[in-house]
Amino acid sequence: SKFIAIIPAAGVGKRMQANCPKQYLCINNQTILTHTVTKLLTHPLISQVVIVLGANDEYFAQSPLAHHPDIIRVTGGTERVNSVLNGLKAVNAEQYPWVLVHDAARPCVSHQDIDNLIAQCLANNHGGILATPVRDTMKRGVFVKDAKSNVSKSINLIDNTVEREQLWHALTPQLYKTNELRFAIEQALANGVAITDEASAIEQANLPSLLVSASSENIKITHPNDLALAEFYLAKQAEQLNK
Ligand code: CTP
Ligand code: MG
Repeated sequence: SKFIAIIPAAGVGKRMQANCPKQYLCINNQTILTHTVTKLLTHPLISQVVIVLGANDEYFAQSPLAHHPDIIRVTGGTERVNSVLNGLKAVNAEQYPWVLVHDAARPCVSHQDIDNLIAQCLANNHGGILATPVRDTMKRGVFVKDAKSNVSKSINLIDNTVEREQLWHALTPQLYKTNELRFAIEQALANGVAITDEASAIEQANLPSLLVSASSENIKITHPNDLALAEFYLAKQAEQLNK
């Protein structure tokens, strides 16, 4: 079976502090969004892409993908979850029983990792996400007024060390059954619970999610420093393709 991917691209990129939404910044003469969409559309198991754009997006119409036959455009919402739900409403669950959701800001995802995610989810008949194990020792901090400190304002102190063995960074794509994901998101929104990724909606609905180990190259471009790193990874991937 073939898969559809929803790409939320309706954010403003506040942390990037650029003069346009970060998905429209260029790396090697192509926008980040074009890199990401091309990566997914060239995957042999993905036949269509739903791009979720900001209501006043004035950039996508200029993109080389603006009239691509396998791209569906929809308008996003206030939070990422609202954008993803709008994307889901454009997906026919009978035609596509499974849906991938992938951040526009992650152009460095590899086809190999997408293959692994799809293979593991289908083999186990569970939804799941790409993830990387946490590397550093993890500390829980507390922001407190400390009587012993010479500084009068509050300071960050270590409360304790959090067991690292069980901690993962949640990446995308995240792959779920289309109906299950839509139900979980609608239920979470109705209950007013905060949803930061698809998996968090699925967790709220008490449904299982697989963690599928992925490459740490699949970064989410968030801060200005991330651009050079993404450029490096994309160049490395292009070189491997040409070997
Ligand atoms: N996104 C979206 N709709 C929103 C918010 C975010 O479609 N209302 C998308 C972004 O465009 C991005 C992805 O969700 O591709 C991940 O979000 P994030 O990295 O947080 O992007 P921004 O929200 O744009 O950045 P920031 O949080 O720094 O403002
Ligand atoms: Mg955001």
